[in-house]
Amino acid sequence: MEKTKFGIQGLDKAFEGGIPTGNLVLISGGAGTGKSTLCLQFLLNGATLFGEKALYISTEQSSEELYKQASSFGWDLVKLEEKNLLKILFFDITRGANFLAEVDVVIKEFQPKRVIIDSMTTLTDALIIGGMGNQSDFSLVQVIEKVSPIPRTEQIIFTN
Ligand SMILES: Nc1ncnc2c1ncn2[C@@H]1O[C@H](COP(=O)(O)OP(=O)(O)O)[C@@H](O)[C@H]1O
Ligand SMILES: [Mg+2]
Repeated sequence: MEKTKFGIQGLDKAFEGGIPTGNLVLISGGAGTGKSTLCLQFLLNGATLFGEKALYISTEQSSEELYKQASSFGWDLVKLEEKNLLKILFFDITRGANFLAEVDVVIKEFQPKRVIIDSMTTLTDALIIGGMGNQSDFSLVQVIEKVSPIPRTEQIIFTN
């Protein structure tokens, strides 16, 4: 099975070589547990180690906030954008535009290999308060959240 590496030694070992290529992965955790940082590193490593184009769809942090967060780890997102290896798409949920249609256009045009949506919670919450257009776009996400086997307690994976 073809695997997509995080480029993070311990995680790639825990995932036996990475995540299966083409899979969707939900990263779950409370505020401040490092979800966005992990996503940034996943994209950064994909671009710098494997030359894979990356799209970061952000509904919470602006590009400037992401640049700042990345720079505290010494990661230069602007340089990757200039090399056309990274695109940051800020999606303002209060605009009430059609999320999937907009993302579809960017994906077809930019053709990224790695895509992050940060966060799903913002999108599904926006639906609940009625800020978004097409209800059916997200009904599957809400079903998955309900039946998800993901444990609610965080587990720490140790690797040697
Ligand atoms: N692996 C890590 N090592 C050190 N600091 C981290 C790590 N991951 C995240 N942080 C720090 O923790 C804080 C919260 O991280 P963030 O990725 O924004 O969390 P979340 O997206 O889950 O809310 C940030 O200040 C970030 O720099
Ligand atoms: Mg975050």
